[in-house]
Amino acid sequence: MANKLYLLLIAALSAVMAYRYPDLPPGPYCGQGGQSQCCSNRQDTCSHQILGTLCYCDQFCNRTLAHDDCCPDYEEVCLGVSPPPEYIGKSCEDKGKKYYPPEKIMKDCNTCKCEQKSPGVAEWVCEDDPCLMSSEVLENINRGGYRWRAANYSQFYGKKLKDSMIYKLGTLPLSPETKRMGPIRHNKDVTYPTNFDAREVWPGYISPIVDQGWCGSDWAVAIAGVMSDRFAIQSNGAENLQLSPQSLLSCNRRMQRGCDGGHIDVAWNFAKNQGIVDDECYPYEATASQCKLHRRASLIEDGCEPPASVPQRTSRYKVGPPGRLQKEIDIMYDIMQSGPVHAIMTVYQDFFHYRDGVYRRSGFGNNQLQGLHSVRVIGWGEERGEKYWLVANSWGDWWGENGYFKIARGDNESGIESFVVTILCDVTESYRKK
Ligand SMILES: *[C@@H]1O[C@H](CO)[C@@H](O)[C@H](O)[C@H]1NC(C)=O
Ligand SMILES: *[C@@H]1O[C@H](CO)[C@@H](O)[C@H](O)[C@H]1NC(C)=O
Ligand SMILES: *[C@@H]1O[C@H](CO)[C@@H](O)[C@H](O)[C@H]1NC(C)=O
Repeated sequence: MANKLYLLLIAALSAVMAYRYPDLPPGPYCGQGGQSQCCSNRQDTCSHQILGTLCYCDQFCNRTLAHDDCCPDYEEVCLGVSPPPEYIGKSCEDKGKKYYPPEKIMKDCNTCKCEQKSPGVAEWVCEDDPCLMSSEVLENINRGGYRWRAANYSQFYGKKLKDSMIYKLGTLPLSPETKRMGPIRHNKDVTYPTNFDAREVWPGYISPIVDQGWCGSDWAVAIAGVMSDRFAIQSNGAENLQLSPQSLLSCNRRMQRGCDGGHIDVAWNFAKNQGIVDDECYPYEATASQCKLHRRASLIEDGCEPPASVPQRTSRYKVGPPGRLQKEIDIMYDIMQSGPVHAIMTVYQDFFHYRDGVYRRSGFGNNQLQGLHSVRVIGWGEERGEKYWLVANSWGDWWGENGYFKIARGDNESGIESFVVTILCDVTESYRKK
């Protein structure tokens, strides 16, 4: 009993001695890379630089009670003796690696800082925000039983969900006045094909997938996309060119918030009254930089060229007043007649994980946060008995089905049928499709 006490006393004493110097340069020494590198007997090579001299991790360093030349973490790592309480937690640990204040690491979208709490005591202080990619969504959807599959997108790592609701989307809530806009009824009793894909019906006329980047410009991308497609279709290919979302983002500033979002009615009115230019003349920058267009709405004064096929074009590309569609067959008829339409949908966390299949909201993941998203509907179809809309997203072609997604059709899934916009383009008269 007395013997045991004595041993304990020695251990405690030597521990205190070894930790005499709390201000020694931060380790680790004997415990580098999370592995102990303790050596037996005397090994002069088993040493580390410390304050211009060497410290040792071999058994020989503990030959005196003072443990003079042992490395500061020798006790802890090689003898498994805990340091005295005043020094516990002087470093923070993650995956077997030690960090010292004020080092920071990222855990997905959250920053963790190793903070000195009191003399010799350090611990992680982490942000605790939901990140864009959710293991709850991934695990539950991919367990099966859904008509769509989820992907773990590395491009989305390090993003907070709340920021993504602004900078991956960008459609501001509709005003009550806009919401009351009466829908156009085509009510056409025609036969609709089971599958319709604008890219096959009008090859070469449908604009490619854009990546809006980290900017809430979905409204500008969707509107410029629908206009591009419709100018090409309604001019029989004469005015087949990419129109510029950047000219909307930068120049439609009144009542808009740039990369923090836009009102679609305001943007369509801008396209109607001021018009936009082509993408080659005003390429996408993913930031709401200062507008470089003039006020006169003339293509030439803006420093842009008319397309080679239509040299007589002098004005910017403009549209007529926007119309609203709501019923499934009215939307289908409009796409079939005139080209892709602009729709808005409500996005929850699970949607960001979409990989392929027919999307329906699952309810997995965070359900507190949501946002409105502008997209371009280019067709429809049926997959394993489920009707869907074929839709172009604006997150790059690595997302979803080469940048596109399918979403359930006919029952207003995620509000996709709640506000669909159609427009006629002011194509140059002599090329107008009859
Ligand atoms: C030194 O370390 C060895 C090996 O762990 C141990 O057996 C010995 O008791 C220690 N000596 C002192 C003086 O602490
Ligand atoms: C997603 O990928 C990241 C990085 O490879 C990984 O850390 C994470 O565990 C993955 N999530 C799931 C649910 O598989
Ligand atoms: C469609 O869904 C949206 C959002 O979920 C809702 O606001 C809207 O009232 C719905 N519209 C119809 C016609 O059901």
